[in-house]
Amino acid sequence: MAEELTFISGSKEEQYLSLLPQVRSLIEGEVDLVANLANVAAALKEAFDFFWVGFYLVKQDQLVLGPFQGPVACTRIRKGKGVCGTAWQEGATLLVPDVEVFPGHIACSSLSRSEIVVPLIKDGEVWGVLDIDSDLLNFFDETDRKYLEEMCGYLSK
Ligand code: SME
Repeated sequence: MAEELTFISGSKEEQYLSLLPQVRSLIEGEVDLVANLANVAAALKEAFDFFWVGFYLVKQDQLVLGPFQGPVACTRIRKGKGVCGTAWQEGATLLVPDVEVFPGHIACSSLSRSEIVVPLIKDGEVWGVLDIDSDLLNFFDETDRKYLEEMCGYLSK
C-alpha cells in the first residue's frame, strides 16, 4: 500500500475524484476500523485543509468522539442533539450553511461557521457519523454530500 496520497489542485469535484480511489485502496487493505477512520480523517484534512474533520461513534445511547484532525472537541453527544445527534436520529446527511442558525448546534469551537455531517450506516443502522467543520460560512454543497457519502460507504463495507 502506498502510504502517501497525491493531492491535485482543481475544482472540488476534481479533488474528490482524485481522492476517492486513493482512500478506497488505503482502507481496503486494512481491517482495523480505528486505523481506517484515522486515515480517512487525515486524508480529508490534508486534501481540503478543513478546520475540523473527524468521526463520532455510536456507543449505547451516545455518540463518542473517535479519530479526528483539528482542535480538541466535545467528547459525547446525545441522540437528537446538535448537528451530529440530529444526523444520527434522522439517518441522513445534514448540510449546515451557518451553524449559528441551526437550533441546538453544539459549538466545540467558536471558529466553526458551517458544517456537514454524514451518517455511517450499515444494515440500516447508524453506527457513527463523519463530521466536518469549516471556518467559512456556507462552505459545503451537494458535491461534498455526494462524495463524502460515497466515502462513508467504503467504511461501512
Ligand atoms: N458541531 C457539532 C459538534 C461536534 S464539533 O463540531 C466537532 C454538533 O453540533 O453536533
